[in-house]
This record gives sequence, structure tokens and C-alpha cells, in this order.
Amino acid sequence: MPEYDPLADLYDLEYDHDYDLPLWLALAEREDGPVVEWGAGTGRLAVPLAEAGYDVTAVEVSKNMLEKGHEKSVAVRWVRGDMKDVTLGQEYGLAVCAFNSFLCLLGVDDALAFLRNAREHLKPGGLLGIEVSAFSPEELSEEPGGPTLRHDFNRQPLREAPGRTLERFSVSRYDAASQLLSMCLFYELYGLAGSVESRRRHDLTIRIVGRGELELMLRLAGFEVEAVYGGFQGEPFAATSDHLIVLARRG
Ligand SMILES: C[S@@+](CC[C@H](N)C(=O)[O-])C[C@H]1O[C@@H](n2cnc3c(N)ncnc32)[C@H](O)[C@@H]1O
Repeated sequence: MPEYDPLADLYDLEYDHDYDLPLWLALAEREDGPVVEWGAGTGRLAVPLAEAGYDVTAVEVSKNMLEKGHEKSVAVRWVRGDMKDVTLGQEYGLAVCAFNSFLCLLGVDDALAFLRNAREHLKPGGLLGIEVSAFSPEELSEEPGGPTLRHDFNRQPLREAPGRTLERFSVSRYDAASQLLSMCLFYELYGLAGSVESRRRHDLTIRIVGRGELELMLRLAGFEVEAVYGGFQGEPFAATSDHLIVLARRG
């Protein structure tokens, strides 16, 4: 079962930010269309891109995530498939792989398979933008005594569920040998009266990728790296950056 299937009903409560959207809108404006988003989730980016008038295809492996996205917009062409090998029968001017979808590829072979497939779907000269979280060594290092329970957030997602609160706790462990970050997430959803509506545990694993590895993989897959940023305003990538954004062109 795709890892995100059991998370689909919580996803829009958990992530309702849009600070990254202006970057992708600006690229859609600058580049040739159509646009494909790889690992599109519930359409947090794909839907507003389509609403802005762009021709958008959203590829998503989780049936439940895709169904949520489809409920939000039928203007997006939703395709259920694996970004490593799905065939869309269309060529794109811009490809987006945002908000850690790339980190869901848990090995070098999977990452390269995706990049090669993404390249195949781009027109000559088309642009691929990848955005992942940049983790500091401190964030990945384990405290003496082993991993501890962290309180990640307490959200009141007004847009999606007015009056309700979502809390998340987690225990994470990073294995530097495999670059895998295994997260055990605990969610608590509180209703209007403050009573617990649901409580659940979910395991999620991502593979941490740094700048050099990402650039090298892009080159191996036939891309020319055009820009590397550390933030959505085009800040230079630095050791303190929270994001790693790489724009690469099909060579
Ligand atoms: C962290 S979410 C990001 C979703 C969306 N890009 C956003 O910005 O909100 C990662 C998404 O990638 C999807 N995903 C993971 N592996 C995938 C694969 N091999 N093919 C297609 N989608 C995948 C997951 O199901 C999940 O919906």
C-alpha cells in the first residue's frame, strides 16, 4: 500500500502552506507549457497552478491522495502512477517535483529511474524543478540515549477544518549509512469541543539527499543544472538553508 494512502484525509490539515507556490507560478509563467507535477499529493500546488490557467498533469501513486485532489479540481489531469515508470503520452515544458516527493524515492536506482522518466517527458530544453528539505547535521544526529519523542506542531487549520486542532508528535531515527530517515508519526485530531476525534500512528521513511548528490544524479540522467537555491525567493543555497531547490534543463 502506498505510504501516503492512510494519511490522505489528514494531509490538507497538516499542510496548508502556500509560500512555495509563487516560485512555481513564476516558472510556469516563464517556461513553456504544459506542466507536470510528479508526486502531486492532493494537489496543493497542482490545483492552484491549474486555476491560474496552466495545463497541468498531476502524477500520484497513492489512490487516496489522488482522490482528494480530484475532489478539489477536475481542471487538473490526474494520473495514478509511479513517477519512476509511468508513461503519460504527453511532453511538458515544465516539470515540478516539490515538497519532498523526491525524498520518497528510497534508493539511488529509484531516484535515477524517476529522473530519467522525468527527462523523457520533457520537451527538448524543458525545465525540471526539484525542491526538498535541507536537513542540518544537528537535525539528523541522534541524542545520547536514543531518539526522543518530539512535539512537531499544533495546527488549527482554519481553511480545511475550522475550530479543530491537529497535533503531531514524532520519533525519528536517521541511518547515515542508507541515508534513510525513519519517522514514526503520532497524530491527534481534536474536535470543536476539544475532545479527541481520532488518534493514529503512521510510519514514514524518506531518503535524505544533499546538493552534490542531487546535482550529480541530474547530470547522470541527462540534465544540465541551471540554478540552485536555498529558498523560494532565490536565496543562495547555504549550510543554514531549510530548502534545497534545483532547477535543471533537459540537455
Ligand atoms: C510529501 S508529499 C508532497 C505532495 C505535493 N508535492 C505537495 O507539495 O503537497 C509526497 C507525495 O509523493 C507521492 N509519491 C511518493 N512516491 C511516489 C512515486 N513513486 N510516484 C508518484 N508519487 C509518489 C506520495 O504518495 C505523496 O503524495
